[in-house]
Amino acid sequence: MREMLAISPFNQVALRSLSHVDDIQIFDTTLRDGEQAPGIALSADEKFRIALALDELGVDIMEAGFAASSDIEKETIKRIVAEKPQATICSLARSVKSDVDAVIDTGVDYIHTFIATSDLHMKYKLKMSPEDVKAHAVDMVEYACDHGLKVQFSCEDATRSDLGFMTEVYKAVEEAGACSVNVPDTVGVIVPQGMSYLIGELRKALKIPIAVHCHNDMGLAVANTLAAVEAGASICHVTINGIGERTGNAALEEVAVNLFANYGVQTVDLSKLGPTAKLVERITGFPMAYNKAIVGRNAFAHESGIHVHGVMGNSLTYEPFKPEMVGVDRHIVIGKHSGVHSVKGRLEELKVRFPDEHMPELMATIKEIAVGGKEIDDAELVAIAEHVLWKKEASVQTAVLDSIAVMTGKNLTSTATVTITLNGEPRTKAEIGVGPVDAALKAISEAVNDNISLEEYKLAAITGGSDSICEATVMVKNVQNDGNLSVGKAVGLDVVQTSVDALMAAINRDFARNITVKKE
Ligand code: KIV
Ligand code: ZN
Repeated sequence: MREMLAISPFNQVALRSLSHVDDIQIFDTTLRDGEQAPGIALSADEKFRIALALDELGVDIMEAGFAASSDIEKETIKRIVAEKPQATICSLARSVKSDVDAVIDTGVDYIHTFIATSDLHMKYKLKMSPEDVKAHAVDMVEYACDHGLKVQFSCEDATRSDLGFMTEVYKAVEEAGACSVNVPDTVGVIVPQGMSYLIGELRKALKIPIAVHCHNDMGLAVANTLAAVEAGASICHVTINGIGERTGNAALEEVAVNLFANYGVQTVDLSKLGPTAKLVERITGFPMAYNKAIVGRNAFAHESGIHVHGVMGNSLTYEPFKPEMVGVDRHIVIGKHSGVHSVKGRLEELKVRFPDEHMPELMATIKEIAVGGKEIDDAELVAIAEHVLWKKEASVQTAVLDSIAVMTGKNLTSTATVTITLNGEPRTKAEIGVGPVDAALKAISEAVNDNISLEEYKLAAITGGSDSICEATVMVKNVQNDGNLSVGKAVGLDVVQTSVDALMAAINRDFARNITVKKE
């Protein structure tokens, strides 16, 4: 799998001495901290589906919820435990007996219990003295251990706590039987060097494994997690897509890929990261940013000509690793910044034969449509290419649309005024219709020739979305002459303009049959 990567060689030099970074456990808290994100509220079924996906992904420990928060939460944790997943299932509990009892009730064998140790939290939230805080922490760790639970203990707001006091608490819970301690950066305030120092100091004082739980308030959650690992932490608290309180937690996919790419540590099944991220996005309804690292829509999307050219030669020119490594697809986006290479490459992949000599016109049409950031998808590209070719094959223009103005609205009869130049002579007509398209098409038919009748009109949206490209097909009949039908097609973003373009194309085809235009 390493051949899928092209990371910086400087990392290897700088990280050479970190031989202790080998066995890292992924402690996933998507279903607990992730679910606490404002805007997310999962049902029992939804939590269960995510739990199954996390287990498939291969997380080591899954914090399935906060048992004391509700009976439904407790039942959901029980249901996940009953599924006998590979992952160790854990529940959160404050350092209070009723919370620990709720966890015991769920049947999990792992508890994550916490109490805040920063002056800010002890004074304003807990209203407890440091001695009481320490006593509660130790009592609850002992109580949970006595009930056969494995205990991970957290000093909440660790990164703003007094190091001496916090170390005392951690050492006391270690003695009371905790199997690991967790260091939460509860409001995301530490920097990697600070984290490195803190974990280094705790590592010297403790024997049990150290976990780290980083929030992303300052955008450093992943960097801080990796700094903690480098300094000796061996359990990473993470969430899928980085969801969690406020700006979220360290993203599982980012931590796991970094551990693999830069530290050579395999954790979860990386190829399931993309599908799991999508599932969590769908179920939580919490949209991923387009530029989300690893799994975002744009993580492997390329539009600019230079980049697409490079990627077509070797994808690693503009990607740190291949998208299949994390189970996502690459997208070559056709848009405003696309170059000829991208468009040609995409058409070839779509098996559309397009002559080189017509490329300039195709590129010009794409740029015209893509102005304003519109991305052109495969179906739209094919329609545009066909349209450009069709136009080339179509007749020489004798009727030219100079201007069109349409007025429409509620309780208003749609009216269109058009000016066309026909064989060098300008003509202006106004017509009303049942809608703006009807009015516009009638006005053009009038301006051109009263012998032209509109036989068929079709409008199709090529893709979904209100900014999708539409395709209009118009069929006209010249009733005076041969009665032959002529077809015109157009693609564009604006329904009225595209319909009008299609009619003009049909009319010009009709003229190409040498039908005399009746002068007014
Ligand atoms: O961020 C935090 O401090 C927490 C605790 C419950 C560990 O989520
Ligand atoms: Zn948290």
